[in-house]
Amino acid sequence: MKKYVLVGAGGRAEFFYGAMAKDYRETCQLVAFCDVNQTRMNYANQLLEEKYNHPQISTYLASDFDRMIETEKPDVVIVTTIDRTHHTYIVRAMELGCDVITEKPMTMDIEKSQEILDGIERTGREVRVTFNYRYAPHNTKIRELIRDGVIGEVKSVHFEWALDTQHGADYFRRWHRNKANSGGLLVHKSTHHFDLMNFWLDTTPETVYATGGLHFYGKENAEKRGETRFYQRAHGSEVAKDDPFALHLEENPHLKAMYLDAEKEDGYQRDQSVFGDGIDIEDTLGVNVTYKNKAILTYSLNAYQPWEGFRVHFNGTKGRIEAVVVERSYINSGGEKADEGSLEARSIRVLPMFDAPYEVEIEDGEGGHGGGDPVLLQDLFGVPVEDEFNRAASHIDGIKSILTGIAGNISLKTGQAVKVSDLLDIKLD
Ligand SMILES: NC(=O)c1ccc[n+]([C@@H]2O[C@H](COP(=O)([O-])OP(=O)(O)OC[C@H]3O[C@@H](n4cnc5c(N)ncnc54)[C@H](O)[C@@H]3O)[C@@H](O)[C@H]2O)c1
Repeated sequence: MKKYVLVGAGGRAEFFYGAMAKDYRETCQLVAFCDVNQTRMNYANQLLEEKYNHPQISTYLASDFDRMIETEKPDVVIVTTIDRTHHTYIVRAMELGCDVITEKPMTMDIEKSQEILDGIERTGREVRVTFNYRYAPHNTKIRELIRDGVIGEVKSVHFEWALDTQHGADYFRRWHRNKANSGGLLVHKSTHHFDLMNFWLDTTPETVYATGGLHFYGKENAEKRGETRFYQRAHGSEVAKDDPFALHLEENPHLKAMYLDAEKEDGYQRDQSVFGDGIDIEDTLGVNVTYKNKAILTYSLNAYQPWEGFRVHFNGTKGRIEAVVVERSYINSGGEKADEGSLEARSIRVLPMFDAPYEVEIEDGEGGHGGGDPVLLQDLFGVPVEDEFNRAASHIDGIKSILTGIAGNISLKTGQAVKVSDLLDIKLD
């Protein structure tokens, strides 16, 4: 049985500790939480006990991370902190003799990626990145169809991702709204989508050109639309009561306990106005990518849409695949009842060049992220089984997926196309 500690006891953490405490007690022993915020760790412990019937575990403040590793002697450190801090814990955990499971994005810029690569080289430890979307049955099915040559060689892909006014807005209410924390949506969110591209096509990105900006959220955009009433955060604000974008923490006991009651320690405000000042990430993005196998991608991401999900079209030498997936809306960390990213609709259609189009049957997927979450958990914490799709993502997959976004961020600044191989000197395939 492996021993685990988890650093970053916020919204996403429960996905991991809940699974270990409930379904994977035979294979995993969860021994400690680490965070900058004691109140949030105490709440995680309360959930462990009340919701999962698991004894409370030790807690350590972030400054005691080394002491936690020395005392608890875990095999694996799970990193679910804010993106800006992932690399610090990944590297330190490896230096102290642990393997790492990290949430996406593995990290957010070239320097931090290099630190992780150097750490792996120095210590020989393993880093896994939890790309849950790969495991969603429809995404695995697309990989299978392309791998099996159903539409021949894929020459181009048109991929549109829509984030809606609940979930999309959520990135503009808190730490993600600053590039220094999240790398912007091209890194923070699109890491999933660019990973899917690498996974589906089994290739690596070569050249990236991006355009975009903050065109909807933010105070200036709201002013241009004639808005005159503003507020800094929803809690305690009269103006926020009329704002459909406002998040009311006090109305949701889970969000209140995790964030509102904890903010006295670190000033982390979870409910800032999406029409406030100081947002420096984009909400409207278009990206062109060319891949090593010569396929081209046209991609767009918009964060203020009436529905959430994606459409993707693959054009091959023998036909075309068209897929549509509509996700159910949610606020991360339990604001809504639905599992994060569970589905309302999905379809995959194959259009052979000279035959009648047909719908592809997709296995049922229960649970979050289109049914990907439970399969990922089994892969992480269950008894190991062969996976013909090699969905377990390594640090190389982690880097490959963020390089497209990092190159995109550079392109946004310079107005030029960026060669991915100029950014980092490692072999990606
Ligand atoms: N795969 C997915 O679908 C998915 C979904 C949601 C979030 N995530 C990822 O999970 C991570 C956490 O996101 P979240 O929504 O839970 O955010 P959150 O803000 O709810 O939680 C982050 C936690 O990190 C802690 N933290 C901040 N700085 C720290 C530091 N220096 N040391 C230790 N702890 C620190 C915070 O106190 C907080 O408890 C992010 O990297 C995000 O990308 C992934």
